Amino acid sequence: MNAPSYHIPGAALDSAAPAPAAAPDKAARTVNEVLSQSQVEAVMDELDRDLIGLAPVKARIRDIAALLVVDKLRLNLGLQAQTPSLHMSFTGNPGTGKTTVAMRMAEILHRLGYVRKGHVVSVTRDDLVGQYIGHTAPKTKEVLKKAMGGVLFIDEAYYLYRPENERDYGQEAIEILLQVMENQRDDLVVIVAGYKDRMDTFFKSNPGLSSRIAHHLDFPDYDQGELLDIADRMLGTMNYRFGEGAREAFESYVQRRIPLPHFANARSVRNALDRARLRQASRLFVDRDRALTRDDLTTLMPADILASRLFADRSA
Ligand SMILES: Nc1ncnc2c1ncn2[C@@H]1O[C@H](COP(=O)(O)OP(=O)(O)OP(=O)(O)O)[C@@H](O)[C@H]1O
Ligand SMILES: [Mg+2]
Repeated sequence: MNAPSYHIPGAALDSAAPAPAAAPDKAARTVNEVLSQSQVEAVMDELDRDLIGLAPVKARIRDIAALLVVDKLRLNLGLQAQTPSLHMSFTGNPGTGKTTVAMRMAEILHRLGYVRKGHVVSVTRDDLVGQYIGHTAPKTKEVLKKAMGGVLFIDEAYYLYRPENERDYGQEAIEILLQVMENQRDDLVVIVAGYKDRMDTFFKSNPGLSSRIAHHLDFPDYDQGELLDIADRMLGTMNYRFGEGAREAFESYVQRRIPLPHFANARSVRNALDRARLRQASRLFVDRDRALTRDDLTTLMPADILASRLFADRSA
């Protein structure tokens, strides 16, 4: 029996789709022409500015962007025969910014004209793999159809492969993915994400997948100073701020939180700030007749943070 061949409808059927951002490429000859035509530099600057830390990730993204810009120039001179392979792997612990960076990456690829739409479809095993025989192929194809023209982000991709399970339908999903990653790479970029050690094991047992992934980006954990800077950044965008002594309280919160189970980097910071905002609201809520000032409404007080159970006296 021949292996089925998959082609997901995309560009060809989608002629009404808006032209890629970089379409009016009057055969750029210089790096600057490509940069200004695509405005890709703006996205990279934003990424540098908005995201705290992540120096190695930012450097890799600049390298990839440089490669893509030069590939464009080569294409304009007829030197480039093939779309470069752009599939990527983002490894790192939870909350290290993988999803956030995937969105920025999609934007960069879109601006440079490597994908038509630049959207991100984020999935896990359950979105791709069916429960019964015959369910997996239609599920996977449906997801691929949605992702065409953009980025398919597969979180915890190693769950696709269950070596202990002889009749695992995950294998079927992987085979379809592999074909589409190879044959339709001019219209779809796949980013697999997850913990580094599990991803390494996954790649070892799936050399086909591993060999199709051109760029491996490793997301480091944030240190305490970076987590505090991330907190400042998050509060700023939500129109809150740390009041007198609150940043110090939060620092001591973060210090206690890091070694505990399920610590999830920036995500834990976001969750802790959400809880502090709840406490601030309850604090303001009881004082029903007082006119609340802008300061009242925007300021987190040390008490809003110190009420966390991480500060509970264990001897009590
Ligand atoms: N370097 C950073 N600077 C500022 N905010 C950040 C940074 N990294 C992550 N965040 C914020 O932290 C939250 C979690 O980030 P994100 O979802 O991108 O992480 P993730 O690695 O995909 O996590 P998970 O593995 O849990 O899916 C988001 O709200 C994001 O905006
Ligand atoms: Mg994520």
